[in-house]
Amino acid sequence: MKIAFVTGGGDSAGINSALARAVLHGREKYQASFIGVRRAFEGLASDNIEEYLLPLDEWDAHRIFCAPSTILGSSRFAPFSEENKSWAPEKIQSNMKKLGIDAILATGGNDTIGSAMHLHDFGIPIIGIPKSIDNDISGTDWMLGASTAVDFAREAFRSSAVSAETHARVSVNEIMGRKAGWLAYLTGISTKADIILVPEKAFSLQALVDRVKKLQDQNKSVNIVVSEGINFNQEDPLFKKALSPESEDQVLRAMLSEKPEYDEHGNIKLGGVGVIIQRILAMGLKCSLSAIRQSNIGFSLRGLTPNAFDIILGQRFGHRAMELLMDKQSGIMVGIRGKEIVSVPMIEALPQYTLDALSDEELDAFGVFFTP
Ligand code: F6P
Repeated sequence: MKIAFVTGGGDSAGINSALARAVLHGREKYQASFIGVRRAFEGLASDNIEEYLLPLDEWDAHRIFCAPSTILGSSRFAPFSEENKSWAPEKIQSNMKKLGIDAILATGGNDTIGSAMHLHDFGIPIIGIPKSIDNDISGTDWMLGASTAVDFAREAFRSSAVSAETHARVSVNEIMGRKAGWLAYLTGISTKADIILVPEKAFSLQALVDRVKKLQDQNKSVNIVVSEGINFNQEDPLFKKALSPESEDQVLRAMLSEKPEYDEHGNIKLGGVGVIIQRILAMGLKCSLSAIRQSNIGFSLRGLTPNAFDIILGQRFGHRAMELLMDKQSGIMVGIRGKEIVSVPMIEALPQYTLDALSDEELDAFGVFFTP
């Protein structure tokens, strides 16, 4: 059996571990052969797929099992988008036939697993492995890369919190996560954040200013973790004040007025809310920007060397994925629930899994800030 690997979407730690184990297990137990296809479904659907191929053997597997990101590169190419759905699925199918590929093993997040499910429906054998620092797919407690990302963010944000304590400052730390607040929440807990702002919970900007002021009066410094995907209420008085032509902060006004961009799957391109929160707080507290320092850990969460958890999870995912492929299964994503590796129909994996799964009592207890 000849298996093609593709690694789609945002990169993360642990992907190469899964590929490595799949190669070793597939070769050892099933004498399978493997071909990596660069840039995910873009490569698979290319007229020149030969330019995207990377043969993978056991020596590669030993070399890459704890390497960061993905040796195959990635793309957000969407084979079933309005622009591509008329030609890309058939092109993928004909490329597989041309190369003698029997099935696909795809690592990805919500979008890649969604494309994989549609390819399965199209008749292409495919198994999915969940990876994303966002940790926001259903059917699995963990996606590859999320644990390593939290480990790194904890180190970085704790450091900025200590410095904020030293200088009696407010520290605003932005982190990715798209429209799920898991990264912000887990990192916030691990750095003893005073305030955690997440997409799932709305809050009044004035109430945020008042909470920061109260904490400043008590502790002198305030440690805030903000998820890139938080939402601003357009009717919020402080938001409207910031957006008005008379706004005292024209940089903030420009940022709030910026036209959003979208990726190939229609996801809004996020980033920058840390600066917006910094500037809104400065306006509300009537203090200088230098009293409120902000940092955005951004893409440094994506190319990290995997921690032990993600290496082990990748090994276990890769092993189970090979078992499913050799059992001629398709349309299935591997996952972990508790300590058990499970098989999840892709259709059940697709709903985004957010902090709404947790109680307001718990979120409040660990610093998530929200107002009725
Ligand atoms: O999905 C992972 C992620 O890092 C999100 O947290 C972030 O919003 C997005 O990818 C960024 O996408 P891109 O790498 O395409 O800019």
